[in-house]
Amino acid sequence: MESGGAVKEVPLVRVEPPGPKALQVLEEDREFLMQSFVRWYPLVVEKAKGSLVWDVDGNVYIDLNSALAVANVGHTHPRVVDAIKKQAEKFLHFSLTDFYYKEAVDAARDLVGISPFDSAKVFFANSGAESIEGSLKVARGFFQGKRTYIIGFLGAFHGRTMGALSITSSKPVQRRWFSPLVPNIIHVPYPYPYRCPFKSETPEECGEAVLGYIEEWILGKIVDPSEVAAFIFEPIQGEGGYIVPPDNFFRGLRKLADKHGILLIDDEVQAGMGRTGRWFAIEHWGITPDIIAVAKGIAGGLPLGAIIGSSDVMTLPGGSHASTFGGNPVSLAAMREVINIIKEERLLERASRLGEEVIKFFNDMYEETEIIGDVRGKGFMIGVELVKDRKTKEPAKKELATLINRCFKRGVLVIGAGLSVLRIAPPLSIPEEHLWRALEIVGDEIRRLDKEVRA
Ligand SMILES: Cc1ncc(COP(=O)(O)O)c(C=O)c1O
Repeated sequence: MESGGAVKEVPLVRVEPPGPKALQVLEEDREFLMQSFVRWYPLVVEKAKGSLVWDVDGNVYIDLNSALAVANVGHTHPRVVDAIKKQAEKFLHFSLTDFYYKEAVDAARDLVGISPFDSAKVFFANSGAESIEGSLKVARGFFQGKRTYIIGFLGAFHGRTMGALSITSSKPVQRRWFSPLVPNIIHVPYPYPYRCPFKSETPEECGEAVLGYIEEWILGKIVDPSEVAAFIFEPIQGEGGYIVPPDNFFRGLRKLADKHGILLIDDEVQAGMGRTGRWFAIEHWGITPDIIAVAKGIAGGLPLGAIIGSSDVMTLPGGSHASTFGGNPVSLAAMREVINIIKEERLLERASRLGEEVIKFFNDMYEETEIIGDVRGKGFMIGVELVKDRKTKEPAKKELATLINRCFKRGVLVIGAGLSVLRIAPPLSIPEEHLWRALEIVGDEIRRLDKEVRA
C-alpha cells in the first residue's frame, strides 16, 4: 500500500497492538534503554511512508502527528531520500567548526530566503534544544555579557538540555532533580485565552494583562530592563497545549522589547517550517523577531537545528560557539529538498486551507458534545482541549489518555499536549482521504467518550 493509495483499507489494525513482535521489542526496550521518555501507547514502527506508518506486526496507522511535528512533507519523501543518498555518496561529514563547504552556504542561503529577515545569518545545530542553547548564547553574547537576564513564559517547552530546560516550564517532572538550573531566568504567564491567568473578558484583554504584568511587576520590581537580554517564546505553545495567543500580544511584546532594547527569540522548533501555513508561525502576527530557532521538521526526519538571526545580532566572535556535527551535509541536503517540496507542492496554502476545515470539523463536534472545551490552531497545528465540565473547565486528563489509546487501537496516531489537549498535526501533504478517514475515527471516539462521561 502506498502513501496515497487504497485508503479504504486504511487503517488496517489486524492484530491488536502490541502484537507478538511488538511485545518482544517492548521487552528488550525496557532491558536496554533508559526509560525516561513519554510514551502514549506501544507503537513499534517498522516503516513509514507519506502519512502512513506500519508497525512490526503488519498493522497500518494514519499519522496525525507527523512523528512529533517532524514529517511535515510526509515520511520518507522520495525526493528527500534521493537527496540524502546523493549527498551520502559525496561526503558524510566535515565539520564547519574548522572547515568550509559550499553545501552549508547554499543551505543557509535557502533558510535566509524563507525567513522574515531583510538580512540574516544562520548557525546550524543538531536539534531543537541545541538551537535554543545557541540562541540564548547569541542573545547574551550580543550584549557582551552585560545583559544576563532572559524572560520566558510559563507553560513553555524549549528542550531538555540544561539551558533549554531552565527556560522550559511545562511540567514539573521535566525540571525536578536537575537543579540548580541556569540562573537569571524569569518566567511570566503566557496569554492563554481559554485559561487566562488574569481577569479578562476577551483574548485581547488577556494579552494586554500579560504585557502589563511584565512591565509593571517584572521590569518594574524584579529586574531593570537594562539587564534583560531577551524574551524567549513559542509563537504557539506546543507541548504546553497548542495555545494560540491573542492577536494583540506579539505586537505588544515587540513594542515593549524595542522600548528597552531587549531581543526577541522566537522558538519555531515545533510551529515553524510550514506547520501553521506560514514558513514561521510568527508571520501570522506581522512582527519580526531578532532570532528564530528551528529544528524538528526542517530536514524531513534527519537531525538538524538552526538559528536564524538578523545579521546585526548574529555576532558571536570566533571560538565562542560551534558544534562538530552541526550542519551535517546529509541533513542539509535533506533540508534543501524539504524547502523545495513545500514550495513546489504548495504545502503552506494546503495546510492553511485544510487546517480551517479541520477546525470547522472540531467546532461542529463542540456543538454536538460537551467534552470539548476549546478548539484552536493555525494551519495544521490544531489543539482540541477536553474538559470534564465546561463551567469549571476541569481538564479531562484521564479521558484524553483513553481517547488517544482507543484511536491508536483503531489505527490513528494522535498524542496529547498540556494537561488535556488533543494535538492534531498531520503531515502538510497528508492525502485528504487519509485525513478525513482518521478524523472520522477521532470523532467517533470523542462521541463515545462524551457519552461515557455524561452517563
Ligand atoms: C517548541 C520546542 N522547542 C524546543 C524543543 C526541543 O527540541 P528537541 O527535542 O529537538 O531538542 C521542542 C521539542 O518538542 C519544542 O517543541
